Amino acid sequence: MAARFLKKVVTNTVPFTRHYSSEVRTVTLIPGDGIGPEISAAVQKIFAAANVPIQWESVDVTPVRGPDGKFGIPQAAIDSVNKHKVGLKGPLMTPVGKGHRSLNLALRKEFNLYANVRPCRSLEGYKTLYDNVDVITIRENTEGEYSGIEHEIVDGVVQSIKLITEEASTRVAEFAFQYAKENGRHKVTAVHKANIMRMSDGLFLRCCRDQAEKHPDVKFEEKYLDTVCLNMVQDPGLYDVLVMPNLYGDILSDMCAGLIGGLGLTPSGNIGLNGALFESVHGTAPDIAGQDKANPTALLLSAVMMLRYMKLVQHADLIENACLDVIKEEKFRTGDLGGNAKCSEFTNEICRRVENRG
Ligand SMILES: NC(=O)c1ccc[n+]([C@@H]2O[C@H](COP(=O)([O-])OP(=O)(O)OC[C@H]3O[C@@H](n4cnc5c(N)ncnc54)[C@H](O)[C@@H]3O)[C@@H](O)[C@H]2O)c1
Repeated sequence: MAARFLKKVVTNTVPFTRHYSSEVRTVTLIPGDGIGPEISAAVQKIFAAANVPIQWESVDVTPVRGPDGKFGIPQAAIDSVNKHKVGLKGPLMTPVGKGHRSLNLALRKEFNLYANVRPCRSLEGYKTLYDNVDVITIRENTEGEYSGIEHEIVDGVVQSIKLITEEASTRVAEFAFQYAKENGRHKVTAVHKANIMRMSDGLFLRCCRDQAEKHPDVKFEEKYLDTVCLNMVQDPGLYDVLVMPNLYGDILSDMCAGLIGGLGLTPSGNIGLNGALFESVHGTAPDIAGQDKANPTALLLSAVMMLRYMKLVQHADLIENACLDVIKEEKFRTGDLGGNAKCSEFTNEICRRVENRG
């Protein structure tokens, strides 16, 4: 079931030239911090076992000080993503309240990755409180509460600006409807708080309504964020595709991940105007970094989304099926899923199955 769902995650979202499987394409790899290098290595190993025709260009995004004295993403990393137009990214550590601003945020802005797509579907054989979760969250990824516009007005008073534009709201709303159509989904729900933030969320909602009129074949509804949270934990089956401003999407998508077993299982794709960056949604897990305990599934399934985006569908199916089968069978589950297997054991078992089937 999960396999069928994930197959549809990024199909046709952004046109990507079909490549013959013998042609080796280069993909930017940002291994990231903490468990990032371990789970990136696991993905690389599984891709090699499956003979995926891509080569990795690994880049370091540790911030460097620019001529203006500000820290930012190294130019070599920017050039790599701009050149290859598709990338895979592990988690990055964000210092709290000091130093450089969030690199995740900077990457999204730098490459105009306007839509964050996170599919959450119950995994067959992995029991959680909920059996039939099947929702897609689509989060506006470039502005809203995460515009990064903050200042101190006077001592002890700070202000943070939530920026909502018609352009970005229309872009993500249109993406949500297109996504629904291309992936056989039937309903788009706009999640908002326009009753409180009348102007900003009001504008977002108007843009969604405009797109709903242009896509009459997809059902449209509007729901308050708090109502969606309540409904989601009572009956996730009420929802299909959800589209929302940045902060709401950040929180709601993590909540949806919790319904299917946690962040270690949830893939995501950041779709931009000119390319895409796929990433696991969990953090750097500093508590288990370097201990061979991490679950690489989220990054692997994000890489599977990436393969489908690149039209390497057969390789995507092969890897995804092997991964989901290993999880279903329990023996090689990692600690976060209640098992005892090491990251390397889980990875090797997927490789073994991929090699047998490939
Ligand atoms: N996308 C990203 O790059 C991203 C997302 C969230 C947090 N972060 C950063 O990560 C750092 C740590 O954040 P945090 O502790 O709040 O969240 P976290 O996701 O790193 O960890 C929360 C818990 O989940 C576990 N966990 C997370 N991923 C796992 C995996 N793949 N396998 C097994 N267990 C896993 C951790 O061991 C920990 O117990 C912070 O610096 C934060 O800014 C980065």
